[in-house]
Amino acid sequence: MRAITITTPGGPEVLELTEVPAPVPAAGEVLVEVAATAVNRADLLQRQGFYDPPPGASRYPGLECSGRITALGAGVSGWGVGDEVCALLSGGGYAEQVAVPVGQLLPVPKGLDPVTAAALPEVTCTVWSNVFQAAHLRPGETLLVHGGSSGIGTMAIQLGKAIGARVAVTAGSAEKLEACRGLGADVLINYRDQDFVAELGPDGADVILDVIGAKYLDRNIDALAVNGRLVIIGMQGGVQAELNIAKLMAKRAAVLSTSLRARPLHEKAAIVAAVREHVWPLLENDRIHPVIDRVLPLADAAEAHRLIESSTHIGKILLHA
Ligand SMILES: NC(=O)c1ccc[n+]([C@@H]2O[C@H](COP(=O)([O-])OP(=O)(O)OC[C@H]3O[C@@H](n4cnc5c(N)ncnc54)[C@H](OP(=O)(O)O)[C@@H]3O)[C@@H](O)[C@H]2O)c1
Repeated sequence: MRAITITTPGGPEVLELTEVPAPVPAAGEVLVEVAATAVNRADLLQRQGFYDPPPGASRYPGLECSGRITALGAGVSGWGVGDEVCALLSGGGYAEQVAVPVGQLLPVPKGLDPVTAAALPEVTCTVWSNVFQAAHLRPGETLLVHGGSSGIGTMAIQLGKAIGARVAVTAGSAEKLEACRGLGADVLINYRDQDFVAELGPDGADVILDVIGAKYLDRNIDALAVNGRLVIIGMQGGVQAELNIAKLMAKRAAVLSTSLRARPLHEKAAIVAAVREHVWPLLENDRIHPVIDRVLPLADAAEAHRLIESSTHIGKILLHA
């Protein structure tokens, strides 16, 4: 089969479409013929040599895919050859075939085409596990989503609105904020010339989904409501910052942080099952939808990485096999 390989850590040009051995599904896995994969910001870090795949994972990039099951490993039940699926991966999505643990499979939602479904596993699992399972966002609460027009942000806005929360977003341009409004965001904050703490006002946000990390830590605490929950899932603004415990204590607030890729199989399977139960009906009833910036051929993976690096996209960039 062909896969995108990283010959040596570096810029987008190190991504090469190469002939490689096809994977063989182990016990409890299925083999998927990939229709499409999606580019995640983490793939850029892997390409640069800063984010190695966890032990046992494919060396090729790609944290999600869609496609068709072509073979079953030993002991697999509940799925059959020919089923159209999408899947959360630990790696290997930038390829024509990938082996997937059954706990990480989801059916292609009714009414959605198989290529588009590649946009779903990573964003739905990340948002569900952080905003709902970790931070327990409730109806009527305010959710602040940093980077509202990102792949993650576009899903967080829609899920927040679907459960009846008020959603505030930050983004770096008027066009991106307009896209967030179109998805239901109530409060639009341009982080380049507005202060999100001031814009939220004294009531603040009950839950903040943060992709910036160190640079925003202190202001995120300022922006939290009493009993607020800050959940950090990205480090685009650095990894080390000072935490003012007095401010945290005064608000009886919590700082949480998770990473999806390195979680053990049983935890991923539990998240995927919860997403199927809670998020899939919203997709199938057209209450939420994946936001796709564009679809490129797998051979253009380098171009897709350049686009994500320039941050001109809104939503997800897909690569079709
Ligand atoms: N922990 C986990 O398990 C997990 C899982 C998935 C993703 N993530 C993280 O989630 C983030 C989003 O992932 P993605 O694939 O959806 O990436 P993406 O589409 O490239 O999004 C990155 C976003 O960050 C925004 N941003 C940059 N600087 C900002 C600032 N100062 N204030 C507010 N927003 C800012 C960008 O907004 P503008 O373009 O408007 O500047 C852009 O929307 C990444 O950091 C990724 O690593 C974590």
